[in-house]
Amino acid sequence: MRLQLKVLISAEDIARRVQELGREITADYQGRSLMIIGILKGAVVFMSDLIRQISVPLEVDFMAISSYGEATETSGVVQLLKDLDRPIEGKHVLIVEDIIDTGLTLSYLYQLLQSRNPATLKTAVLLDKPERRRTDFTPDYVGFTIPDKFVIGYGLDYNHMHRELPYVGVLEN
Ligand code: IMP
Ligand code: MG
Repeated sequence: MRLQLKVLISAEDIARRVQELGREITADYQGRSLMIIGILKGAVVFMSDLIRQISVPLEVDFMAISSYGEATETSGVVQLLKDLDRPIEGKHVLIVEDIIDTGLTLSYLYQLLQSRNPATLKTAVLLDKPERRRTDFTPDYVGFTIPDKFVIGYGLDYNHMHRELPYVGVLEN
């Protein structure tokens, strides 16, 4: 089976936008230090580029979750596979995620981390698919708003593959 792919967001456009987000985050957190929490595995590419565009002191940690469902659809049932290594109480926490779709994953994570009493808690996503939202969750930082299409690349997978693509592509079948 050959993959039919169309480039939705080029590597150059991603790099430009990630630089802008980094500047915005740097300005917003001036004088503070940040705890960046990447959501495995989709967020790793975005996160690694984003933290290099942020110039306030920061530390990183990771969480892994799995949402049960079809390959291209989330079920809303979220399971915590890996928790943070360290407490976040009193810290300025920024959750970094690849994409918000229904919003179920991020609202679950937001509530979980909020209950641990961080000083502040915000969210950054590379991609936002607002059409399919099933919660009223709005991320604080959004790279690109995209239509309701299944996208892969730049960390995003289809059946665990294609995360390495340097651009965001749309699967056409
Ligand atoms: P939500 O809980 O529906 O907001 O889904 C968020 C999660 O679903 C993301 O972390 C992705 O793992 C996955 N997801 C949603 N849309 C896509 C897509 O277009 N491509 C790849 N993964 C997606
Ligand atoms: Mg994911």
